[in-house]
Amino acid sequence: MNRRVYLDHNASTPVHPEVLEAMLPYFGERFGNPSSVHAFGREARDGVETARERVAEFLRAGKDEIVFTSGGTESDNFAIKGVAAARGHGHLITSAIEHHAVLRTCQALEAQGFEATYLPVDGVGMVDPDDVKRALRPDTILVSLMHANSEVGTIQPVAAVGQLTRERGIPFHVDAVQTCGKVPIDVEAFGIDLLSFSGHKIYGPKGVAGLYIRKGTKLVSVQHGGEHERRRRAGTENVPGIVGLGRAVEIRGRDMEAEAPRLAALRDRLWQGISAAAPEVRLNGHATRRLPGTCNMCFRHVESESVVLGLDLKGIGVSAGSACTSGNVEPSYVLVAMGVPVDWAMGSVRCSLGRSTTAEDIDYVIESVVPLVAKLRSLSPARV
Ligand SMILES: Cc1ncc(COP(=O)(O)O)c(C=O)c1O
Repeated sequence: MNRRVYLDHNASTPVHPEVLEAMLPYFGERFGNPSSVHAFGREARDGVETARERVAEFLRAGKDEIVFTSGGTESDNFAIKGVAAARGHGHLITSAIEHHAVLRTCQALEAQGFEATYLPVDGVGMVDPDDVKRALRPDTILVSLMHANSEVGTIQPVAAVGQLTRERGIPFHVDAVQTCGKVPIDVEAFGIDLLSFSGHKIYGPKGVAGLYIRKGTKLVSVQHGGEHERRRRAGTENVPGIVGLGRAVEIRGRDMEAEAPRLAALRDRLWQGISAAAPEVRLNGHATRRLPGTCNMCFRHVESESVVLGLDLKGIGVSAGSACTSGNVEPSYVLVAMGVPVDWAMGSVRCSLGRSTTAEDIDYVIESVVPLVAKLRSLSPARV
């Protein structure tokens, strides 16, 4: 039986045992509808409001500024479509390397007559605040930028962008799905008006997330129905999920600071081990301004899918940067935007570490990946 090593924490994380423990009563005796006035309902409402307080404290926001949603994807849609609907027309600024939840939402708005600018990034995946400044127009209604990229982990200069948008009174949305709970966030200090976060990236449950909405931000609801979430997001709250998310955020607030240097050291051990033993490998993303657990590499003349499948046979879970679209393998749009040549980009592999990752896991991955890449390369027609 192979060792099992999970290095795909940017895709999803296992629910923390303390999160599960917090959630369980809400599947059982505390099952009530939080909108009900009786004791059953009030118990559920208490669970939701405690979670809201925990999230607000973590983000240094007000409790009334947190709305729970069904996922990071919904939070991004809500923020962007909500601002667009409040304004009716205008121009949006985002980057070329956003998650599809942002990119496709902006594209959908373009189809409705809005205009959008997709800012370029440099070779390490960083947006230049001066490019944001140059892209701003009198009719700009929103700037939306991810805090850290999910593929390469580069952390964007959100505070510098927040200062620009604040000076001009333009709402600033930050997709913090990959950072909330991994690095400190202060919505006030960073000048953020809207911030998306999600449970399953931080050892919380899937299908529950939230949006921070700064008081006074003009936003139209995109989901209509009952008067839930102070009339901002209709639908009976996912009480166990929200309780789990609140507990997950609280735990991250407790553990994050100590965990970050440990993960960064393991991440660097992985890169050093692989780059010392495998030729023609490059690291993607910023050397230091990067998520502590993210290591994205390109193996030249190797197909990422083959590495992922080969490692899967060894019990190792990592992800490929390339995507299969209608039968053709395409390089990652993030790496393409960073200017990574295609013969490198086709061989990108993302390893994302988490709280259970050990040095032994990392050494096992190095031992497994180096001969695998050598073998795949020897068989590669591109090589010949
Ligand atoms: C940066 C970013 N935004 C949004 C999402 C979507 O979040 P969810 O899976 O909760 O819908 C993800 C998920 O991978 C992400 O990495």
